[in-house]
Amino acid sequence: MALDLTVEQKELGKANFQSATEGLSRRGFMKSVVAGAAVVPVAAAVYFGYESIHGKPVKAALIGTGDEGGVLLGEHNPDYLQFIAACDIRPSNRKRIIEGDPKVPLRKGFKKVYGEGYAKDIDAKHFYTDYREMLDKEKDIEAVVVALPLHLHADVSIECMEKGKHVLCEKLMAPTVTDCRRMIDAAKRHNRILSIGHQRHYSMLYAQALELIKSDVLGDIKHIRALWHRNFSWRWEEEPGQDVAAGLIQPYYRDGWTPPIGKLDYEELKERVKTLGYKDIYELIRWRLYQRTGGGLMAELGSHQLDACSIFLGHVHPLSVQGVGTRSFFGGPDAKPFRNNREINDHVFVTYEFPGKNHPKGPNKGSDPSDVVVMTYSSISTNGFEQYGECLMGSRGTLIVEGEQSAMLFKENKPGGKAAPPKSTTMTVTTTAGGKPAMESGPTWGGPPPAAAASATIGGGAAPVAISRGYREEMEDFAYCIRQWDSGLGYQKKEGTSEYVQRLPRCHGEVAMADAIIALTSNMAMERQERIVFKEDWFKSDSTEVPEKK
Ligand SMILES: NC(=O)c1ccc[n+]([C@@H]2O[C@H](COP(=O)([O-])OP(=O)(O)OC[C@H]3O[C@@H](n4cnc5c(N)ncnc54)[C@H](O)[C@@H]3O)[C@@H](O)[C@H]2O)c1
Repeated sequence: MALDLTVEQKELGKANFQSATEGLSRRGFMKSVVAGAAVVPVAAAVYFGYESIHGKPVKAALIGTGDEGGVLLGEHNPDYLQFIAACDIRPSNRKRIIEGDPKVPLRKGFKKVYGEGYAKDIDAKHFYTDYREMLDKEKDIEAVVVALPLHLHADVSIECMEKGKHVLCEKLMAPTVTDCRRMIDAAKRHNRILSIGHQRHYSMLYAQALELIKSDVLGDIKHIRALWHRNFSWRWEEEPGQDVAAGLIQPYYRDGWTPPIGKLDYEELKERVKTLGYKDIYELIRWRLYQRTGGGLMAELGSHQLDACSIFLGHVHPLSVQGVGTRSFFGGPDAKPFRNNREINDHVFVTYEFPGKNHPKGPNKGSDPSDVVVMTYSSISTNGFEQYGECLMGSRGTLIVEGEQSAMLFKENKPGGKAAPPKSTTMTVTTTAGGKPAMESGPTWGGPPPAAAASATIGGGAAPVAISRGYREEMEDFAYCIRQWDSGLGYQKKEGTSEYVQRLPRCHGEVAMADAIIALTSNMAMERQERIVFKEDWFKSDSTEVPEKK
């Protein structure tokens, strides 16, 4: 993001963000999200409204021990959640979740998290290839974390809830809105908690950004630009000793969603995979490429960012979507060696209209239908020059969140003024005569003191702080909600309101369904080359209206 910023200007933007969040917090304009580096996790719990777990850690099982299952195991806090069983059908991923992944430190594996003996015991006695068998045999399981390909989310989550387990299912919630509603309905019928893994709901960085937006210092936001670009156009180098099944290394270009098929998986599953509900081994391992099993770039990447932007704009739903999606590099006829049979786009460019603050569907329920925010989103696979993130452009300032790791803030100059360019001026937060917060330009920046530059992301302190992307907090809150859950109350609503009496995870089924609707409708708009207007009824869990019927 922010292609034209120098390194110094980026540091200035980060320092501005930090100074603004601290200033707003001090002046009482912001729910306090600023904390010293060492106490960030505590601050997160306080901000997100959960506490230390009351009672023992929740006994959980992990279904799907692939890339994301590995991250969730590596990031969870064993004080809140204890994984007592796991299930996967790929022997390579079983091995990796037990041993850990030396190439990706986040994927620590059972050995590093729980110790050698515990890991051996899981591998020998509590690892299954059939989740039904696991649910039947492992009577102590209270909750299940589902990190399976998209097409399995609804059925597996529902089965787990039917068997009395609380469920944290990875995003995208489900491949159809009907499936999302089935999941919500199962949670209610079986009185279980359902949480969906959009981790930005638990990121302190996003919480800070949200508080800043709520304080209005950005002025009137009329445009958001969000993107997630990567470059997968490099020829795949076969590494010495790589465990690749002969002839299965196609395609020759490195697309992260087209991994090679390892010998271990190939030999074990090449025939058996058909009895496990997959067309072939390619569909199992490269599930993201196909309509039946995946949801493409909008489901995998865009949904996270659209989720964040809907929250930034006041928990609103978009009004319309249109876009262009292409299979212009990897997909298409098999004439070139790097082409493959993918059904999903490798480039997407989408435009949304969102309601502004004073739009009838905006947060203030105003009367101005022309108050619209336009958001553009792109995800491309052949150029990774720009860091992924979201840029919010307001009439008084610009906020950029980059790579889920840092945020930058710049003040707009008044027209005709003699101020230094906004990209080079510091800013402070002041209070206007009307008692509202506002950004005030400071002097032209002379560069950061060395320690301040390093800490200009979150928290403060002398050393850079690795920012939690929210996985840990998401699982902590899930476990906390489970320990607080009163089955007698279930999903009762507070009298005369649409709020539930009991605490649910921040991204519970109804919240996540909205993200699924946006991603799925965007895919539809690109496929049909149409502008689609969102209907409010689609977002209601008790309606039968669905975009897929359109
Ligand atoms: N929240 C995030 O930031 C984030 C990031 C990446 C992935 N995800 C989500 O996590 C989910 C998993 O993605 P991934 O990257 O780990 O994929 P993956 O292919 O690496 O892992 C999926 C695992 O599920 C296993 N599996 C498939 N069918 C099974 C079955 N019937 N029974 C048991 N195991 C089965 C596979 O063998 C594989 O190990 C997806 O929904 C994805 O969208 C979320």
